[in-house]
Amino acid sequence: MNLTFRKLNLSMTMKNNLKNIIITGGAGFIGSNLAKKFLSEGTEKILIIDDLSTGNKNNLIGLNNIEFIESRIEDIENLEKLFKDYDFCFHLAAGVGVQYIMENVSKALLTNIEGTHVIIEACKANNIPMLITSTSEVYGTSSDKVWTEETKSLIGPPTKLRWSYAASKLIDEFLVLSEYNDNNLNPIVVRLFNIIGPNQVSDFGMVVPKFIEAAIQDRDIIIHGNGTQTRSFTWVNDVIEYFYLLSNKKLYGEIFNIGQTEEISIKELAELIIKLSNSNSKIVYRTHEEVYGSKFEDPMRRTPSIDKIVEATGYEPSMTIENMIKEIIEYKKINN
Ligand SMILES: NC(=O)c1ccc[n+]([C@@H]2O[C@H](COP(=O)([O-])OP(=O)(O)OC[C@H]3O[C@@H](n4cnc5c(N)ncnc54)[C@H](O)[C@@H]3O)[C@@H](O)[C@H]2O)c1
Repeated sequence: MNLTFRKLNLSMTMKNNLKNIIITGGAGFIGSNLAKKFLSEGTEKILIIDDLSTGNKNNLIGLNNIEFIESRIEDIENLEKLFKDYDFCFHLAAGVGVQYIMENVSKALLTNIEGTHVIIEACKANNIPMLITSTSEVYGTSSDKVWTEETKSLIGPPTKLRWSYAASKLIDEFLVLSEYNDNNLNPIVVRLFNIIGPNQVSDFGMVVPKFIEAAIQDRDIIIHGNGTQTRSFTWVNDVIEYFYLLSNKKLYGEIFNIGQTEEISIKELAELIIKLSNSNSKIVYRTHEEVYGSKFEDPMRRTPSIDKIVEATGYEPSMTIENMIKEIIEYKKINN
């Protein structure tokens, strides 16, 4: 579980050229941290559009120079006019989280396809570059040991509804890259692998906040499946650093994995969380079918190659899983 650090982090030296930015989904976990980062780097104005379906306005408390519109992106009239005078759009609004997707399949699909389409049109009309947040889910159950940006997708059948999220995000990738191919848009595609951080909420099925909240309260930690499935977790501030560098470096027309190569099984994760929070919680196992019904399946591994993004930005992920968990436990003890 040890990380090796290959290079120094160079981002501190990169000047911010983005004065006015748009963040869709900016009241969410990643979006709110992104807003903080750009404001601290001198960005003067941020337009946030969020329907608060999974986000929370409290994430934006204390931030200045934010214009907030509470709405579904799909429902805004005159989006093209609204986007005038902005330099860049980070498009994060989406149905997110396994539990949320399984409970809102159609709504999430429409947001991810229709919503992304209207954002693309508004960016095109104003000649604004955009970054879209795709997901490691697009690789499906690929058996390749490490997933590079060229790895073939192995998404399950549409009867397994959990793959709807992956399929819609893959369509988003095709939508922006085809516009790039036609010289209509400057997009950056990032595929995120299990991002974690202090203000991520447990309500929509995210494993780390769910386990930590249970551990702090000495409740049972419920593992879906047998716990041997592995994941790699990445610190939200590292993700933000990558967004900052990719957008300022104008690395358009490319797909980048963003994640970490350190793997941990879900059982080991639960044990680590119990140890680090001095918890009396017990681990309990439930099958995926019990939790989500028969329309669900889960990949056993999910590990990215991050060579491409490290080479392009000069930046390495900065945190071990143990330190990430420690920080989240401290935050949740005070804030929950
Ligand atoms: N967190 C992860 O591990 C992870 C992994 C892969 C991809 N992603 C992607 O990163 C992006 C941000 O995810 P997050 O983890 O911050 O989740 P989040 O749920 O905290 O953020 C999503 C935000 O979008 C808003 N939203 C949803 N539908 C909307 C709509 N129709 N109109 C306007 N706003 C809407 C929500 O209220 C929320 O604030 C998403 O696109 C997600 O698919 C995240």
